[in-house]
This record gives sequence, C-alpha cells and structure tokens, in this order.
Amino acid sequence: MPRTRIYVFAFALLVSALVSIGLAFASTLLRDDQLQSARLYVIKNIIAVSGFSKEALEKLTQKDANTTIKIFHDQFESKFINKANEEVSPEWLKTELKKLGYATEELEAMEAFELINIFNSKLALLANATNKKVEEYDPQLKLLFLYKPKDKVISYIIPIEGYGLWDMIYGYVALKPDLNTIQDIRFHKHQETPGLGGECSEPWFTNMFKGKKILNSTGDFVSVAIVKGKANDLYASTDLNHYVDGISGGTITSKGITKFLREDLSSYNVYFKTIRK
Ligand SMILES: Cc1cc2nc3c(=O)[nH]c(=O)nc-3n(C[C@H](O)[C@H](O)[C@H](O)COP(=O)(O)O)c2cc1C
Repeated sequence: MPRTRIYVFAFALLVSALVSIGLAFASTLLRDDQLQSARLYVIKNIIAVSGFSKEALEKLTQKDANTTIKIFHDQFESKFINKANEEVSPEWLKTELKKLGYATEELEAMEAFELINIFNSKLALLANATNKKVEEYDPQLKLLFLYKPKDKVISYIIPIEGYGLWDMIYGYVALKPDLNTIQDIRFHKHQETPGLGGECSEPWFTNMFKGKKILNSTGDFVSVAIVKGKANDLYASTDLNHYVDGISGGTITSKGITKFLREDLSSYNVYFKTIRK
C-alpha cells in the first residue's frame, strides 16, 4: 500500500477513535442528568392527574427537580399488584434483581416505576435463575400510585397504554377514593396526528373524562367509552356517566383509547374491589 494511503487510513482511524472516546465520555457524564429528567417526566405526569391543586402545580414548575421528586416521595405511595391481585413489596423485586448481580445501592435509588421496568426486562433471566418457565414465574406486576398528602388517599393513579392509529399512546388515569369516579386523565406520549387523533392530549378532550364513572348503578365495571359524535345526542342522561364525545377525524384513535382504557382499568378492578369494601 502506498504511504499516503496508510496515512489517510491511520488518520481516519484516529479521528473515529477520538470521536468514539468523546461520545462515550459525554454519555457517561450525561447519564445521571438523563436518568433524572426521565424520572422527573414520569413524576410530573403522575402529579398532574392526581388532584394536586392547580396553584401548587404551577408553583412546582418553577421549583427545581429535587423539590418535585421530594414531593413525590413524601405525598405519593407506589404499589405493585400481581396477577393474583395481591400487593407485592418492592423488597421482593429487589431481592429477585440482586440474584442477577444488581447492587443494593443501585436498587435502593430506583423509583418503583424504574424498578418494574428493569424487572420486566429481565423476566427470562429471573425465571431461569428460579428454574421456572417465564409464564410460570412472571407475576404480571402492575403499578398503582396513591396520592395521600396527609395519610388520606385523594386519588389512585394507574398507568394506561395501548395502540391508537399510528403507534402506542401512553397516559395515566386517576380515580377518586371511591375507585369509581375519574379524577383526571392524561395522554402524555403519542404519535397521533396533530389536529386529528393528536387532540387526545388536549384539555378540551381530557376534561370531559372528569367525573365520569367506571362502574354502573349496580356496581359492575363498565369503563368510560369515547363515542363517534356527541355523547349527549346518543345517550340518556344516566348513561352519560360512561361516555365522552369523540374526536372528529380521530375515530381510530378514539377506539384505541376506549379499548385500552377498558382493559387497563378492568385489570385493576378485582384489586380495587378489595379496597372498595
Ligand atoms: C394524514 C392522515 C392522518 C390521520 N391521522 C389520524 C389519527 O391520528 N387518528 C385517527 O383516528 N384518524 C386519523 N386519520 C383519519 C383516519 O384515516 C380516519 O379517516 C378517521 O379516523 C375517521 O374518523 P372520522 O370518522 O371521525 O372522520 C388520518 C388520516 C390522514 C389522511
């Protein structure tokens, strides 16, 4: 190979090595900030539907990240519910993850919503470590957040997710202490078209859910559905407890939300029955 080519090759190699080192260094430096902002994003969305006062919420936007996280720790409780509708302690998850080599300090620093993500992503390894099949091992954990500022529950918040038209829609729904009335709902992440399905994250749409009931007059689970058109024109006043207006030009998104809202709420209903008693 001529000398000049060797120089070009060596120079290219050197540049790529330097860029890789630089990127790796930047990524390590920014890791904590990235984790913090992802954590804050989840916490802010949970707080936003919880019934936290509007003024307090506005003040919170001016405060630093640590204040918001502290409020979440002091006034909210996170629970795990398994497929048998029993509560599972965070210690159990941590003990399981320690089997895979996770350090105690690392696990202790995690929020419940981070712990469950790691746990679910390691199901195959965890099942293997316990000599079980994944289906047999998987407790199918669900998250539940309780907003209890003064030891009295103000709302129960559950994550909701499912397909709209283009992709997954992620949100939270909060129920009042009767575990029947919707306190608030929020769709914080979606790929639906702005002005069409994308209207699902707009207040005119989400505000309609406030005060709707997920149980009928005899206490059976019915959820809340989005109709095509105006709910008022289609249903008698008693049924209006369970319907909201549709999004014009967003019928597929609306159908998707109706479906996953029903599925997600119903998956908690057996557990909720034990609290309603
Ligand atoms: C570019 C484009 C983007 C669209 N985005 C959405 C969407 O985000 N959600 C949705 O339900 N429908 C969307 N639609 C419309 C659907 O294809 C369908 O026509 C609509 O859901 C029917 O709703 P309607 O009966 O209320 O008109 C889109 C259509 C086009 C052409």
